[in-house]
Amino acid sequence: MAIEIRPITPAEATEYLRVLPYVNGFPQEEPEPSAWYAGSAAWPPQVQRTAAQLKQDAAELLSDWFRPQAAFVDGKIAGGSAIVSVQVTVPGGRQVALGGVTSTAVLPTYRRRGLLRKVMAAMLDDCRERGEFLAGLSASEATIYGRYGFSPATFQHRWEVRRTDVAFRSEFTDPGELELADGAVAAEVWPVLHEQVRAERVGEVSPLPGKWDGLAAGGLPADGSGPAHHLVHRNTKGAVDGAAIFRLPWSPDPARAGVLQVEAFEALTPDAYRALWALLLDFDLTKRVVAARRPVDEPLRWMLTNPRALKLSRTRDNLWLRILDVRRALEVRSYAATDSLVLDVADDLYGAGRWRLDAAPDGAACTATDAEADLSLTVNELGSLYLGGVRASELAYAGRIVERRPGAVRRLDALLRPDRAPHNAVGF
Ligand SMILES: CC(C)(COP(=O)(O)OP(=O)(O)OC[C@H]1O[C@@H](n2cnc3c(N)ncnc32)[C@H](O)[C@@H]1OP(=O)(O)O)[C@@H](O)C(=O)NCCC(=O)NCCS
Repeated sequence: MAIEIRPITPAEATEYLRVLPYVNGFPQEEPEPSAWYAGSAAWPPQVQRTAAQLKQDAAELLSDWFRPQAAFVDGKIAGGSAIVSVQVTVPGGRQVALGGVTSTAVLPTYRRRGLLRKVMAAMLDDCRERGEFLAGLSASEATIYGRYGFSPATFQHRWEVRRTDVAFRSEFTDPGELELADGAVAAEVWPVLHEQVRAERVGEVSPLPGKWDGLAAGGLPADGSGPAHHLVHRNTKGAVDGAAIFRLPWSPDPARAGVLQVEAFEALTPDAYRALWALLLDFDLTKRVVAARRPVDEPLRWMLTNPRALKLSRTRDNLWLRILDVRRALEVRSYAATDSLVLDVADDLYGAGRWRLDAAPDGAACTATDAEADLSLTVNELGSLYLGGVRASELAYAGRIVERRPGAVRRLDALLRPDRAPHNAVGF
């Protein structure tokens, strides 16, 4: 079996697509609803692509932001993956380049022969060569990517609430205005709104080109959940400061009838947040609301007389991070305190390093050192800690960080403490 790993040529684009689950109709998600999925099917039904769609996909494959690598076995493509160039917001607000791993698949007849391992090594080397010091992905299964140094850094909730259980703790008069908008308005609103959200929100990812194009076109999802409805909130000056996308699927099954599915929700101010939820949670002729892609620190529960009414139906890791250059990654973010720590960081792919981190709220310096380490960890734990979504003390308790100087874990926690839980509603 002769194996070759390399980027594809334009002539190979259609053959490359053939290995992807969404093209050949194989599952690409676990057989239970993910935190990003607001519908009720086990996984959104796989709709095989038509010849025309494949042609379009193949053309998009060769754009400059999509960097596919394929595994050729005896000259035929048996697997592949790709890096998309996106940005992620890090603590302190910088938006830094992230090599986003996507479209990973190996044909069932070639699995477990090391093809993914080789493809991944080629892609991560490529990111490093381009100066991308972070890579990221979302994982179909949590057992696959730890071996390459990736680890969960953001998490997502999917929750449900019964309409009759909802009562807000306080009266509220909306100083702004809600509007039901059509897809064309939504397609103008969302890119601008998301840019504003992303500037503030640690963990949020830049949208891929064309991300919002489908809003204007409409279209019905394959799981039968019906057309998208758009709600927009404007402040007293008429500027958009929040929006939601929701669906109202009809079902003859009483257990599934009367559900309002919230697929996307963003608000820039507490007023917009409260006004949008107030309408969505009390929508006429519905019984329940299911919201997907929600942050783990959702403020809504604290607005309700019965905070337990909001029932989590799924929690899942969302963005997995892989730090490719420890020094640059630690220097680009800001910190919640001023302190210095020496970290021993093991990395199976790119070698271990010992780093002195001099961190402060307005920046940091990270230098290689021979001084005694305060803490030992691997690049995986560093990936989970990086955006502030996982605490060092939690990982130390699990035996994943070794404290070499008493108090060092607590000090690292103080440095990395986030203002809010990192979150990304947009993926790649
Ligand atoms: C996941 C997938 C890409 C792995 O490809 P592969 O070529 O079989 O992987 P490799 O042979 O290079 O395996 C590398 C290592 O990962 C392990 N591994 C691979 N797939 C795994 C899985 N699903 N669960 C647990 N471990 C897995 C292998 O056992 C091997 O372990 P080792 O390093 O200890 O020897 C392939 O199984 C696939 O296409 N699955 C269906 C689609 C999918 O889940 N895609 C991922 C989307 S995020």
